[in-house]
Amino acid sequence: MTVLASALDTGGPDYAAHRAAMLDKLAALDAEHAKALAGGGEKYTARHKKRGKLLARERIELLVDPDSPFLELSPLAAWGSDYTVGASLVTGIGVVEGVECLITANDPTVRGGASNPWTLKKALRANEIAYANRLPVISLVESGGADLPSQKEIFIPGGALFRDLTRLSAAGIPTVAVVFGNSTAGGAYVPGMSDHAVMIRERSKVFLGGPPLVKMATGEESDDESLGGAEMHARTSGLADHYAVDEADAIRQARRIVARLNHRKAHPDPAFAEPPEYDPEELLGIVPGDLKTPFDPREVIARIVDGSDFDEFKPLYGTSLTTGWARLHGYPVGILANAQGVLFSAESQKAAQFIQLANQRDIPLVFLHNTTGYMVGREYEQGGIIKHGAMMINAVSNSKVPHLSVLMGASYGAGHYGMCGRAYDPRFLFAWPSAKSAVMGPQQLAGVLSIVARASAAAKGQPYDDEADAGLRALVEAQIESESLPMFLSGRLYDDGVIDPRDTRTVLGLCLSAIHTAPVEGARGGFGVFRM
Ligand code: COA
Repeated sequence: MTVLASALDTGGPDYAAHRAAMLDKLAALDAEHAKALAGGGEKYTARHKKRGKLLARERIELLVDPDSPFLELSPLAAWGSDYTVGASLVTGIGVVEGVECLITANDPTVRGGASNPWTLKKALRANEIAYANRLPVISLVESGGADLPSQKEIFIPGGALFRDLTRLSAAGIPTVAVVFGNSTAGGAYVPGMSDHAVMIRERSKVFLGGPPLVKMATGEESDDESLGGAEMHARTSGLADHYAVDEADAIRQARRIVARLNHRKAHPDPAFAEPPEYDPEELLGIVPGDLKTPFDPREVIARIVDGSDFDEFKPLYGTSLTTGWARLHGYPVGILANAQGVLFSAESQKAAQFIQLANQRDIPLVFLHNTTGYMVGREYEQGGIIKHGAMMINAVSNSKVPHLSVLMGASYGAGHYGMCGRAYDPRFLFAWPSAKSAVMGPQQLAGVLSIVARASAAAKGQPYDDEADAGLRALVEAQIESESLPMFLSGRLYDDGVIDPRDTRTVLGLCLSAIHTAPVEGARGGFGVFRM
């Protein structure tokens, strides 16, 4: 074993300051998570309960195995938008009858569970996760369908939801729909396209058009029950495979369906894993409040990997990027972690080599971000930084082993790409509350804009207003700063959630377990042309 040594002074002032800053950010995060939990608020929650219905998260809680964890994804979806935080949909990974499943549940307390643009993004992301990791999908449906005022944003791209369900099925990934209430119009295709459908007596309403629409279209008089009730679908149309007498019975039947799926993981669960040698609580005191101050990512690695056991690869070369091998909850992983922020040529080449090794060995990769990007300047351009950065981005893009990304601190510029940012399809990507991500730092961005504006004025022979420039710089800086923060980015679904650093090992462990439902196989070739 190669147990990492720690130089973290947990009694010192730096640690205390970093911890205090992180706890402040966590308190702010908790307040936003509480908004997602509150759903449509007191009035709509009380009305929903009075109707004898369970809330979305209560349905999930009954569905998953007792005392098993539920990894909720993107709880802050729609943050910073005009829509309710959480986007009227709960998604996550939970264990049902011993099978890890991707579960989605509409929140009917938020505008009748109708889908807005962020709901759609969140639902499509859930499908992507199910597909990549071969997780059965369980949809707990109760929705007013498309959020009508925003239909232009969702109607056309929203077709992908139903396409995904049948593609999952075609790939042998089971899909189960449990209909708790409304599932009309397009929504009817959720049970319609799923492998298994459960409906509930006097609750499920599944029709292409309700009584008013039918009246308008054909003049026919009808009622909800005869058009789309559970009894009708179970006895007459055959759309319901299972008829439940109430919500609890429906959830029980969904569990029985999963128990009979014969869905097997590609890789067995690893045996018992050693916890880290160091207390994960100390993860709160590592990242400085000011991200300009570097920190040693080995302090983080020591608190998330099994036994704090880490075999470093090329420790003396390209030292601004730490690479090495470890286990996390028993799963082998290769880790790439930024050490001093900037990526130089050596770091990029080291990363490309390391990623190829992980692919040869079928080992998933974990990217721990704290980078300001690739180094700029004459010396570095002449040294081929573009070639070398391209090499790293090529390796990341064409790597076939699963990737997990955690934004601990900075994640700027092409460094975000090279470290497997969102567009590079990591299986999961999470951010710590201390993270910041943008094309560049706010000060740098405001400064660049100001230089460009000054040059433009000079070219036109116009005078430049320095006072206005200072005001504009401050304004731009504040705007970019707010758009770099994890809650803002999470709201736009650019990650799968903002997590407490102390939960990193648990969250990554749950993801690795889900990932191993599908075969883990690296690329043996198939990289793009590496420029040398
Ligand atoms: N788009 C936008 N807002 C919607 C909505 C939709 N599809 N469905 C419901 N809402 C809003 C309602 O206007 C209401 O807002 P308010 O409280 O500010 O007035 C709120 O959500 C709750 O709806 P309400 O009808 O009071 O809830 P309910 O639980 O009694 O009924 C539905 C829920 C979904 C059955 C009912 O709202 C409905 O039939 N909606 C339209 C369904 C439809 O035809 N959708 C088109 C499918 S493509």
